Amino acid sequence: MLEEIKNTVSYIQTKISCIPEVGIILGTGLGGLVKEINIKHVITYGEIPNFPVSTVEGHSGKLIFGELGGKNVVAMQGRFHFYEGYSMKQVTFPVRVMKLLGVQTLIVSNASGGVNADFEIGDLMIINDHINFFPEHPLNGKNIVELGPRFPDMSQAYDKTLIANAKKVAAANNIKVQEGIYLGLSGPTFETPAEYRMIKILGADAVGMSTVPEIIVARHMGLPCFAISIITDLGVDGKIVEVTHEEVQEVAAQAEKKMTLIIKEMMKEL
Ligand code: HPA
Repeated sequence: MLEEIKNTVSYIQTKISCIPEVGIILGTGLGGLVKEINIKHVITYGEIPNFPVSTVEGHSGKLIFGELGGKNVVAMQGRFHFYEGYSMKQVTFPVRVMKLLGVQTLIVSNASGGVNADFEIGDLMIINDHINFFPEHPLNGKNIVELGPRFPDMSQAYDKTLIANAKKVAAANNIKVQEGIYLGLSGPTFETPAEYRMIKILGADAVGMSTVPEIIVARHMGLPCFAISIITDLGVDGKIVEVTHEEVQEVAAQAEKKMTLIIKEMMKEL
């Protein structure tokens, strides 16, 4: 596993001329941040040794290297989901690669369903904690001690300083942000009304099918993490309607500008 990661890193290093400081994972319908990057190199997943290939609609599958808000970044346009059939090791492989490329901060975006009754469709939610409901753990199996400890601490999975910076940027730009707990599960079905209710009772504010594995692996390696979610639908009693992937993409695309601005401005504070 470590050899594979190192081989992939070596390959990528032959294609790039700068060391990325920040890694960004762009979720469903949120690829527009790429337009803000002063792009220096693009590598399609298909050409990267050991990289899985993204299959889901709305995820185009490229590693983008460039400059954003004065920082060298690497952005994943398209991420890997457990529901696509990838193992948790595959889902999180790119995060390990980003760390070994030199990344010192990880920023993750996603689309999620809100279960907090105060939320509205199109809201942004800064993730301040998570509940892992995936049926497989990304750190299951032999620990790669060169990357991190056997029993990683998760007391501050989402970095408090990064959260404070994001809130400051949002306030300065008149952008409303919510803050809350994200429950990650495998999908690909959206939740039944009873499941949304259960998720709320468990203490979460939003639910989605990503992010948690990547954050776990990043924290294993000691990377400070920031994650932000676009609430694309509501799993709130009385407000539950049919959810489609198209609607999720549409709402995400509408809210994307606000999220992009926050991430771009945050770069200056890093
Ligand atoms: N549930 C799970 N994943 C999601 C949802 C949802 O309601 N909305 C967007 N991604």
